Amino acid sequence: MIKQRTIDKVFDTIRIEEVVGDFVDLKKRGTSLIGLCPFHNEKTPSFNVSIGKGIYKCFGCGEGGHAVDFVMKHEKYSYPEAIRYLAKKYNIEVEEEEQSEEQQLVHDRRESLYIVTNWAAELFQKTLWDTDEGKAIGLSYFRERGYRDDIIKKFELGYSPESWDYLYQHAKAEGFDDEYLSNTGLIIQKEGGKTYDRFRGRVMFPIHNMTGRTLGFGGRTLKTDKKVPKYVNSPESDIYHKSAVLYGLYFAKKAISTADTCYLVEGYADVLSMHQAGIENVVASSGTSLTTEQIKLIGRFTSNVTMLYDGDAAGIKASLRGTDMLLKEGLNVKILLFPEGNDPDSYIQKHGPKSFEEYVSQNQHDFISFKTQVLLDEAGDDPIKRAGVIREIVESIALIPDPIKASLFIRNCSVKLDIEERILITELNKIKLQQSRKRPSTKSEIPEEPTESQSALINGEATPDSPPSINANDLQEKEIIRLLLQYGEQPATWLENDNYPIAVLILSSLQDIEFSHPESKKILDIYIDFVNKQDLPENRYFITHPDKKISSLAVSLLSTPYTLSPNWNDDKRQIYVKQETDNLKDAVVRAIFRMKRRKIDERIQQVREEMKQESDPDNMSILLHKYQKLKEVEKETLDFLGTVISR
Ligand code: CTP
Ligand code: MN
Repeated sequence: MIKQRTIDKVFDTIRIEEVVGDFVDLKKRGTSLIGLCPFHNEKTPSFNVSIGKGIYKCFGCGEGGHAVDFVMKHEKYSYPEAIRYLAKKYNIEVEEEEQSEEQQLVHDRRESLYIVTNWAAELFQKTLWDTDEGKAIGLSYFRERGYRDDIIKKFELGYSPESWDYLYQHAKAEGFDDEYLSNTGLIIQKEGGKTYDRFRGRVMFPIHNMTGRTLGFGGRTLKTDKKVPKYVNSPESDIYHKSAVLYGLYFAKKAISTADTCYLVEGYADVLSMHQAGIENVVASSGTSLTTEQIKLIGRFTSNVTMLYDGDAAGIKASLRGTDMLLKEGLNVKILLFPEGNDPDSYIQKHGPKSFEEYVSQNQHDFISFKTQVLLDEAGDDPIKRAGVIREIVESIALIPDPIKASLFIRNCSVKLDIEERILITELNKIKLQQSRKRPSTKSEIPEEPTESQSALINGEATPDSPPSINANDLQEKEIIRLLLQYGEQPATWLENDNYPIAVLILSSLQDIEFSHPESKKILDIYIDFVNKQDLPENRYFITHPDKKISSLAVSLLSTPYTLSPNWNDDKRQIYVKQETDNLKDAVVRAIFRMKRRKIDERIQQVREEMKQESDPDNMSILLHKYQKLKEVEKETLDFLGTVISR
């Protein structure tokens, strides 16, 4: 554990432009720096670094955060790894928290398992390259299959000889504990005390974690005997959790990010062949169906996945299976089948990388239309089966979290299924309703940044009864938070006597108002705490907040004037920013005014409803009194704001 003191020091020292500048060519543009976004492919720069705010934000792909976020995202580091990297860059000494004895023991044990496994990987490799049996059998097998030496080395492939105790004897000589050898599955201990190697006479594929350490192995037999299992695999161990590992991800993660897409294949052989052909954004599920953990791993690097499968019936079934889960995680899924009897490995070895890429680009289908076609073919003309198909397809679509994407699929499918869109939408809504009853409702589906129509709504230019998913209240609250973050420290110069900070003005004007949008409320509460202590929080406090929802709201709000209309050219963008700072008074007062009016209107509305229901005359007079009070407050608010609003 890194000490908080070190972390604070890192945050105090780092400069966003220097950290990002190591990876992105930045040019000065107005008050910020701009460059080509490293997180998606683009030709015109939309990646913005604000030195003052200490944040970066891409208008193209929406990626944004503080300097540590950048390093984590760009280098695929964990939080502590990123802190260590930055400490090194700025020559800051990393102080570690002492571990308890128990923590130390667990840590030591895991470390020992890693050491044993990585030692075994080296032994298998040496055996492949330096022993007669290894060269004659293992190496020549790989070469015959067409793998180049550099690929064999890169993936650290190895060979385990045809012997009961080759590895065990070597391990004894090294002094390794049986317990570690057995927990990692390298040896098998029978009850009678007999001990022997798990991998015998096999070519070895080490399986790496995200930082390149070996966790376990797949060993392929070279025998054609059908009774011998083709693969023997390491069992689950304290360091190897199969459900959380994807073969090849360590070698693929950078390429996946850059290409912004990931190929998903079945086998080790497919990964190797594709790398050899220069296609490095590929991982294998290793023959089992995908887990949610594995999908989330992919989701850290891209939201586009293309599944590459054998074109036989089993391949088709397999591709239908894993995919619903991918949809649920919000990934865009494409499917590609190879001609029957081919897999990516054999296709690429036969036809070469160029025609492979051509084949891929011409034959990939989005998953929903693929599934529709497969199921429709299966159902034929049977009307009952066809109805089943419709339901199944709509169920898949219902998993897609993005409603806009889902509605596009509905449109496409209505053509394919020859059914009115309206009917599919009704079906979709039914399924969604069932789903939402099943799981407790999570947060609303409003994007963090207002779209153009939404900002029109905040500005009172649109009628609030348009689409129901747009929550005007949340948007107003976010607008207040944005003003706090962006201008909170600046003095409210238009107030005649004392130049309060704008934050203080906003907070005191909204004293009687409860926020309902959870993250906005949290940020507001933090402000109130600070102001009560005669202080103001720095933006860094929110940008680096451990609650990811708070930090990403802060980042997106801090870059809002730029993102309100991403299509504007730079000149217009600067004009926009200038206008807001010129008319800060307007911006602040209008926001307060809109919010107050809405809240008061809401309460007036409420009291009116209560009055309609009330029959008791005493209660009625109380309500009436309340109503009059509210009307007065409304008028006062309007009057007060009327005097401060200049136009
Ligand atoms: N697999 C396994 N156990 C088996 C068969 C397969 O663990 N008995 C896993 C392996 O991870 C394998 C993947 O499923 O890589 C895909 O299987 P397959 O296509 O048969 O293996 P390939 O790696 O393509 O092997 P090859 O091309 O050498 O036949
Ligand atoms: Mn194969």
